[in-house]
Amino acid sequence: MDAIKAVIDRRTGSVDRLSVLAATDMAGVDALIADRMHSPVSVIPALADHLIHAGGKRLRPLITVVAARLAGARGDAHLKLAAAVEFIHTATLLHDDVVDTSNLRRGKTAAHLIWGAPSSVLVGDFLFARAFELMVETGSMRAMEILSRASRVIAEGEVLQLTRAHDLNLSQKTYLEIISAKTAELFAAAAEAGAVSAGASAPHCAALRAYGQNLGLAFQLADDALDYGGVTETLGKNAGDDFREGKATLPLLLAMARSGPREVDFWERAIGRKEQTETDFRRARELIVGAGALDATLDLAADYAENAKAALSVFPKNDWREGLETLADFAVSRRA
Ligand code: IPE
Ligand code: IPE
Ligand code: MG
Ligand code: MG
Repeated sequence: MDAIKAVIDRRTGSVDRLSVLAATDMAGVDALIADRMHSPVSVIPALADHLIHAGGKRLRPLITVVAARLAGARGDAHLKLAAAVEFIHTATLLHDDVVDTSNLRRGKTAAHLIWGAPSSVLVGDFLFARAFELMVETGSMRAMEILSRASRVIAEGEVLQLTRAHDLNLSQKTYLEIISAKTAELFAAAAEAGAVSAGASAPHCAALRAYGQNLGLAFQLADDALDYGGVTETLGKNAGDDFREGKATLPLLLAMARSGPREVDFWERAIGRKEQTETDFRRARELIVGAGALDATLDLAADYAENAKAALSVFPKNDWREGLETLADFAVSRRA
């Protein structure tokens, strides 16, 4: 939350209002997270705490909270779902860093480098299970359906991406399918679950789902741009990981499409044949920036953010709606 506030305060000031509005709910979510992280098996809280207390933007649970309030939530039934959403997200990060062999997360050494990949994967499973316990406590079959589906779709997206690594023939359509599954689905579920917990009408639930889906696409497109245009210290994870892992993300696909024969040779060696030298990431970044591929990726992200905001038109204009609009802008303009 602080990270979101710091970035947007500089631009609009309106997250100030959102952070004040959502402060009590978010404190409740953090308390639930701290409480449910516990286990008598000491490596579990140790490893989970390493990642959870390293921070993180808490963007997804914030979306659940604000969506619930926009949809008219009165009590605090949505807090458990928001905590479940963050647990699902945290579990996927533990798994993802093993899969991507990433060594930095939230500015700290990735958990698998400290406790090993097996513990990291198993604690990820623990956090998934905790998320399901929280959902069951809400008694909402609909919320369970939404978040179970999201968990399944994320796994499908991650596996699809894994099987298409080093594939320079990846179409933009398949790339969008991957990011829709691995990232946008959880944002969609986060927003929809908030609406469901507030007892919102079907059109209002659908509108918030569309908001989350579009914001999620914008968020991952921006993330893929930041992997080339961002700074490791600010990101809290290593810039260049996508390139080193041979992921054909949109910046790379667009630069490839705009390449001459010499550049095509470079991409085929570094990504297709996995033969990389120390200086290759710098060259890749220069080619991508030079081809205008980062700007084009961020333009597409901005289009999705506009779609996200447009989906909110069924709601009256109020502070909660404005808060969600601000978060859609944040997904694109962020540096961390
Ligand atoms: C990281 O998500 C995973 C992606 C979908 C790119 P965040 O950038 O929201 O991670 P934290 O929770 O703030 O660390
Ligand atoms: C993000 O994966 C989606 C999930 C974690 C499910 P990435 O691999 O693109 O994200 P980062 O760059 O590691 O955060
Ligand atoms: Mg990763
Ligand atoms: Mg990944």
